[in-house]
Amino acid sequence: MPETTPRGLTRLAFGGDYNPEQWPESVWQEDVRLMREAGVTMVSVGIFSWALLEPRPGVYDFGWLDRILDLLHDNGIRVDLGTPTVVPPAWFYRAHPDALPVTADGVRLAFGSRGAICHSNAHYRTAATTITTQLAERYADHPALAMWHVHNEYGVPVSACYCDSCAAHFRRWLATTYGTVDAVNEAWGTAFWGQRYAHLDEIDPPRTAATVGNPGQALDYKRFADATMRENFVAERDILHRLTPGVPVTTNFMVALSQCDSVDYWAWGREVDIVTNDHYLITDGRRTHVNLAMAADLTRSVAGGAPWLLLEHSTSGVNWQPRNPAKAPGQMARNSLGHVARGSEGAMFFQWRQSRRGAEKFHSAMVPHGGTDTRVWREVVELGASLDSLSTVRGTRTTADVAVLWDWHSWWAQTLDWRPSEDHDPRERADAFYEALYDRHLTVDFAHPEADLSAYPLVVVPALYLMTEKAGRNVREYVENGGTVVVSYFSGIVDQHDAVHEGAHPGALRDVLGLTVEEFSPLLPGQAVRIAGSDGSELTGDVWTEVVVPRGAEPVWTYADGLTAGHPAVTRNRHGRGTAWYVSTRLGAQGLDALLGWAIEDAGVDARADLPRDVEVVRRTGESGTYLFAINHTAADVKVPLETDGTELLTGERAAGRLPVPAGAVRVVRLDG
Ligand code: GAL
Repeated sequence: MPETTPRGLTRLAFGGDYNPEQWPESVWQEDVRLMREAGVTMVSVGIFSWALLEPRPGVYDFGWLDRILDLLHDNGIRVDLGTPTVVPPAWFYRAHPDALPVTADGVRLAFGSRGAICHSNAHYRTAATTITTQLAERYADHPALAMWHVHNEYGVPVSACYCDSCAAHFRRWLATTYGTVDAVNEAWGTAFWGQRYAHLDEIDPPRTAATVGNPGQALDYKRFADATMRENFVAERDILHRLTPGVPVTTNFMVALSQCDSVDYWAWGREVDIVTNDHYLITDGRRTHVNLAMAADLTRSVAGGAPWLLLEHSTSGVNWQPRNPAKAPGQMARNSLGHVARGSEGAMFFQWRQSRRGAEKFHSAMVPHGGTDTRVWREVVELGASLDSLSTVRGTRTTADVAVLWDWHSWWAQTLDWRPSEDHDPRERADAFYEALYDRHLTVDFAHPEADLSAYPLVVVPALYLMTEKAGRNVREYVENGGTVVVSYFSGIVDQHDAVHEGAHPGALRDVLGLTVEEFSPLLPGQAVRIAGSDGSELTGDVWTEVVVPRGAEPVWTYADGLTAGHPAVTRNRHGRGTAWYVSTRLGAQGLDALLGWAIEDAGVDARADLPRDVEVVRRTGESGTYLFAINHTAADVKVPLETDGTELLTGERAAGRLPVPAGAVRVVRLDG
C-alpha cells in the first residue's frame, strides 16, 4: 500500500516549486543554504522539465536532476518529484501535431505555452507513460524521494479537446457508459429537434453548432473529458506504484477556483494517495480569506476529512490577474496557517526563487528578485519557524460543525446554455452561503449529495439544480431522521441527464420541502423584490423569484411586491423528525444571516456568538491533542475565549481564559487534557 504522507518527512511540509534548471548550478549552492536558513523541508522539482530530461526522442539527460536531488538530500530536504507530462517537448509536437488540442470551434492550439494536450492522443499517452517509467526506474531508490507529483493541474488551461480522436474516444466512452445508441437517445432526449442517432458512429463532440446544442450531450462531454484526463493520471500513477511501491502519488488540484471548474474532484480525490491543492487569492474585491477558507474546507472534504497538503500558494502578488496587489505584512502567514488550520499538513509555494525570464517573472516567490534583504524573505523565514513549532499538529483532523452539499456535475449543468436567467450563478450562491456560515464562525465540511449526512446537525443546499433520485432520497432521509436542511432556489430540478424530474418542481425535493414551484420568474437587472417576515422583518431579494405553492410548508417570509406577491419567499416544513427550509429568491448577506439564524436554532447548532467578525477559530483534533487556531484578520487586537487552558505554540506562552490575538496575527493553542 502506498503511504499517505510524504515519505521521510517528519515535520510539516514547507517549501515550494523549485526550478533549478532556470539557474546556473552556482546558484544551487546558495539555494540550499537559504532553504536551510528558512527551514524548508520539501520542494517540488521537475514539473516542467521534459524537454531537458529528454532533449531528443529516446535520449535522456538525467545528470542535472541527479545532481540537484543529491544536493537536496545532502541538505536534508525532501523531494516531491514531478512527472513532466504537462509540457511535452517541441520535437514531440513536430512529430505528432495531432497531440495538440482542438477547440470547439475547430482551432488547433499551438505549442509554445504549457498544457496543450489532447488527452485522447495515443502518441501522447505512450510518450507520457514512457518518460514516467524512465523517471520511476531511475529515482525509485533515491533517498530524497518523498512523493510523486504527476503532471500539473489537470484541466487547466485546456479542459477539453474536440478533435477527431476525441470524437472516436467519446463514442467508445458512450458505448461503455450506455451500451446502446438507443440508451444514449433516451438519456439525451434526442427526439427534441430531430437529433436522433441511428448509430453511435454518428455522434460527435459538442462542437460549435448553429445554435444551442443538446444539453445532455454537452454534460456528458464534460464527464468524458474529465474521465479521460483521469485515465491518463491513473496510467502514470499505476506505473509509479509498480516501480516505486509505497511512495505516495499525487497531482495538484485547484479545488474551489472558478478558473478550474472542469474537474470532478470527488472522483479524483479517490485516485490520489494524498490530496494536494493549489490556492491563489482572487482579488475581486471580496474578502479573500473567506475564499481561502472555503477552498481549504472543500479540499479537506475531497480528501474525505483526512489531512491534505497545500502544494502551491503565493508569498505575495501573482501575475495573472488584471491587477495583482502585493500581500500586506503578515497576510502570507495568515494565509498559510489558515490552510493548516483546515487540515493542510504544511504550506508550500509557487515558487522558491523568482524567475528572471519567462511568463511568470513578475509572480512573487520565496526568494524575491530583491534577495534576502526584503520583507517577503524575512516573513518566509519567520513562517518556517512557525511551522516548525507546529510539527505535532501533523495527522490531526479539522472538526466541522455543518455540511454544504457540493457537486461539480450540478455546477456544469447549471452553466449550460438557455437557463431561466444568465444572472443566476450557482457558484455565487455556494460562496454566499459559505460566507454566511463563516460569519457565524461555523466550520464547514462539503459533502457529495449522495454521501452520508447523518453526522451533521445542519446541511445547506445552495442551488443544487442537478440531483439524482438517490441524492433526493438522501436529503429526505436525512430530514426524516431529524436533520435540518436549508435549500436554495433552483435545486432538485433535473436528473443526471439534465432531464426534468417528473411532476412539479422541485422533483427531487418537493415532499421534503412541502411545496411545489409552479414557475420560475427571474428578475431583470436592477430589479429587486421586498419580502416581509411573519415577525415583522423585511428583506429584499434579487435575480430570482418563484411562484411557490405551499403543500404543508409554512410561509415564513412572503413576497410583498412583484409578480410573485403573496406567495411565500421563504418556507419552513416539518418533515419526519426534522426541518426543511426553502428560499426561493436571492437573498443578500443580511437575509442569509437571518435565515441561517432560524435554521441554526432548529438544528441546535452551537454557533459562537463571542467572536468578532473576521476572527477565525478552527480546531484540529487527533492523537497528539486538540489544537485551536485563532486567526485575526482584523486591524484590532482581540481576545478569544478559551474553554480550556493550553500552550500557545508560536510564542511558547501559557494561554488561559481569554487568548490575546494581536491585529493581523495567528495563535495556535494546544489545549490541555
Ligand atoms: C499554478 C501553476 C504554477 C504557476 C502558478 C502561478 O496554477 O501550477 O505552475 O503557474 O499557478 O500562480
